[in-house]
Amino acid sequence: MLVSAAEMLKKAKEGKYAVGQFNINNLEWTKAVLETAQENNSPVILGVSEGAGKYMGGYATVVGMVNGMIKELNITVPVALHLDHGSYEHAFKVIEAGFSSVMFDGSHYGIEENIEKTKEIVKIAHEKGLSVEAEVGSIGGEEDGVIGSGEIADPDECKRIADLGIDFLAAGIGNIHGKYPENWKGLSFDTLEKIQKLTGEMPLVLHGGTGIPIEMIQEAIRFGVSKINVNTECQLTFTAATRKYFEEDKDLTGKGFDPRKVLAPGYQAIKDTVKEKMEMFGSINKA
Ligand code: 13P
Repeated sequence: MLVSAAEMLKKAKEGKYAVGQFNINNLEWTKAVLETAQENNSPVILGVSEGAGKYMGGYATVVGMVNGMIKELNITVPVALHLDHGSYEHAFKVIEAGFSSVMFDGSHYGIEENIEKTKEIVKIAHEKGLSVEAEVGSIGGEEDGVIGSGEIADPDECKRIADLGIDFLAAGIGNIHGKYPENWKGLSFDTLEKIQKLTGEMPLVLHGGTGIPIEMIQEAIRFGVSKINVNTECQLTFTAATRKYFEEDKDLTGKGFDPRKVLAPGYQAIKDTVKEKMEMFGSINKA
């Protein structure tokens, strides 16, 4: 059964570790993440972006697939199904579809509008038992080849959003989606500290988990980060393993053209990446 992410992140905060959000793209991705979580007795959050939701055939399809796997694969660790960077409209769509957690990303609105919309979503989502993540300070990243640097959130604005009854908060602290550029300045721990001081027990979320060095990850956890999002890194390892399969002409050998064989190395690569992150975040045996 899917659970909201509120309880698992509260526990993570108390236990000084972080739960990974791994974004899913298809059936293999979902199965790889769920099986790795179960094998390592770790709680896990499956992230679904609006684009990935559409790609997989819509939110109801995703809910059906994830619930089916939890049942058929005997997944007993806590699993949350979470909308990643949701718009106002899509937040309501996933609440209807049966997700157990939702992120409303109102960071591109002015703070007053972000507050109004977040408030509405908290009310409806909580009535239905979903956890809510909100965002202050947009997280940059690569778009059409241009790498935008991440914004640094205003701690006072973070406090105003945190006070709306959300369950966890994403705040920009110089983190970005995708690969980090050579000249990246690193995370602003100073900002993180200020935000956590003002927001008290609120679990904080670190987006852009791909490529952040382990020391910075662990420092972020010490400063109050309880959820870390990873997407690009699984894509990179999946694709590298798949590329190797073709480079070695494995598709031309025997029944190597069978899609289940073609996707097997990529599937294993996702499992290895997820396990490595779970070790780094400290969530193993915390289910
Ligand atoms: P990366 O793709 O950089 O790992 O970021 C993932 C993320 O933050 C999803 O919201």
